[in-house]
Amino acid sequence: MPEDKSGENVTEAQIAVHWKEEETYAPPTSFIAQANMTDEDVLERFGEQNFPNCFKEYADMLDWYEYWTKTLDTSKPPFWRWFVGGKLNACYNCVDRHLPKYKNKTALHFVPEPENEAIHHMTYQELYVKVNEFAMLLRDFCGLKRGDRVTLHMPMTAELPITMLACARLGIIHSQVFSGFSGKACADRIVDSGSHVLITEDAYYRSGKLLDHKVKADIAVAEAEKEGQKVDKVLIWQRYPGKYSAKTPLVEGRDFIVNDILPKYLGAKVEPEKMNSEDVLFLMYTSGTTGKPKGAQHSTGGYMAYVTGTSKYIQDIHPEDVYWCMADIGWITGHSYIVYGPLALAASSVIFEGVPTYPDAGRPWRVAEELDVNIFHTSPTAIRALRRVGPDEPAKYNYNFKHMTTVGEPIEPEVWRWYYNVVGKKKAVIVDTWWQTETGGFLCSTVPAIHKMKPGSAGPGVPGIYPEILDDNGQPLPRGSNKAGNIVIRNPWPGLMQTIWHDDERFVRQYYERYCADKNSTDWHDWPYFAGDGAVEAPDGYFRILGRIDDVINVAGHRLGTKELESAALMVPEIGEAAVVPVPDPIKGRLPHVFVSLKPGIQASKEIEQKVSDTLAAEIGPIAKPGRVWIVPDMPKTRSGKIMRRVLAAVASGQDTGDTTTLANPEVVEKIKSLA
Ligand code: WTA
Repeated sequence: MPEDKSGENVTEAQIAVHWKEEETYAPPTSFIAQANMTDEDVLERFGEQNFPNCFKEYADMLDWYEYWTKTLDTSKPPFWRWFVGGKLNACYNCVDRHLPKYKNKTALHFVPEPENEAIHHMTYQELYVKVNEFAMLLRDFCGLKRGDRVTLHMPMTAELPITMLACARLGIIHSQVFSGFSGKACADRIVDSGSHVLITEDAYYRSGKLLDHKVKADIAVAEAEKEGQKVDKVLIWQRYPGKYSAKTPLVEGRDFIVNDILPKYLGAKVEPEKMNSEDVLFLMYTSGTTGKPKGAQHSTGGYMAYVTGTSKYIQDIHPEDVYWCMADIGWITGHSYIVYGPLALAASSVIFEGVPTYPDAGRPWRVAEELDVNIFHTSPTAIRALRRVGPDEPAKYNYNFKHMTTVGEPIEPEVWRWYYNVVGKKKAVIVDTWWQTETGGFLCSTVPAIHKMKPGSAGPGVPGIYPEILDDNGQPLPRGSNKAGNIVIRNPWPGLMQTIWHDDERFVRQYYERYCADKNSTDWHDWPYFAGDGAVEAPDGYFRILGRIDDVINVAGHRLGTKELESAALMVPEIGEAAVVPVPDPIKGRLPHVFVSLKPGIQASKEIEQKVSDTLAAEIGPIAKPGRVWIVPDMPKTRSGKIMRRVLAAVASGQDTGDTTTLANPEVVEKIKSLA
């Protein structure tokens, strides 16, 4: 059964009734006049009758050393292989190939959080030089080579894309861990990916404070070693080159300041590796239904083709554009739509170190005005926060957006309208892009110059993506019926992950097992991709995403597995049992509430609540901080001993708990309610 916004199970019919049809908005004519894709034929060209060859259009946006011989190989489902036989390099496509035309054009604008610090503009030529020098360092100083994995735990500075591109140049597989994650979370990813080198930065700014980030590297390395993975070298970029800004001392023989070694490689040039289309470009860990985060493995050819094509048609990026995506590069959005997509199209991409509402809610609009940003990309959480603290701020600044994106969570129509009217000043088109870490790029969105916008709806499948809604038995719901079910993508596409890093079995189980019609079939029609989201389709073919149907909580657009949170809570020695549920939050969409029962003989106290909260923040990161820790006398359980999270979610959100008489211990529900 799908979940509604409160996290409770509701029937499909109920959801259909709750959903009010919203008004539509036509794309502004000024936008259409300059758009990359205005030809409605694109929908036909990418229609099912032209699948899979339609994706040649995206692959042809790249430079290949060797052209591929087969567009799609389906011989080993669901391990699809795209552009088979092709050879290319992602770094070459994002940097080298732009030099003849754009070498003096800005590739990256680095915007430090402190406003009295100058914005750093880096041209494509400068980026080329830096990437080459750092690639040489990775090769000669670290001995890294094609196929090796490297973990990055870097904040939002220009050194992060430089590091990623240097890895890509050599065919080294990067695994960037969100800088807000703890040293322990980083360690888990080091171990899983088998990295011997960790690349980090000494410090970065967050809400006005220069944080010591290097300290997390010490924890990460120690924890990884406990789990049997030795890290030989830690490379540390400096937030202020030439000055070490962390308090944590360096470990002799293990820690190296990049800015000290780099001069050795001054002016060095490294040939890009000719990678096979199917070689791995990077891993991106994400939360799943079980405790262990899984490494989404993305390819070089298929991924690059897909993010470049969607950046061009859906983000409408031209080389002249100044493109600002406020997401963190530590998430898939940043990989696809700050680094690889925009740079492959020779755009100027903005990297913003700070928090959108710091020092005040006018900051993003000052940055937009200063840099002439014309494409703006952010999340509903950021929009809600900016709307709450600075609803009138955008009007005070003279910037001109032609295009805006929302991503990561469902956006409430009310919030959408503020984004459109106030932020976009009714002059910008909006795309609401639904997709996932696993999918590499957009799945549902309007094509901005072609389709109308509808607040709260992502839109139809993007070109070449054929979504459908299935019921629990795998039967398609009638098209456009507005009934809720599980959204699937009927076809493979080039941006889709190849597998979960060394866990093929889990990949099949999680995304394909549920709806695969015939395991022996090599016809892709038998292998719909199960996204794990509930959705409804309106009569106009627009999909509205309802949220996760598995045990994942979407906090401010970040995915946290309930199991991960529960296992962190259980690390507090006093805790006997823990259950985590999502609770609606006006800013962050959802917040985790943690219910814990204590071990026998332990008294409830504020200290224990604090300890649980601190442990979650320390184990996973500050984004995991619970909205509330509830110490309960016992968990409501079914007769088979399963914790009834539905009941806890209802109590936490102040809703009716429904019929609880079938529980093994119905009396406990009243006791829990009395804590509210
Ligand atoms: C949710 C982020 C509604 C969805 C790119 C998905 C959305 C999960 C939207 C993936 C959207 C993402 N509207 N919900 N436009 N975009 N989601 O892997 O539940 O961090 O499954 O990828 O976010 O989160 P992830």
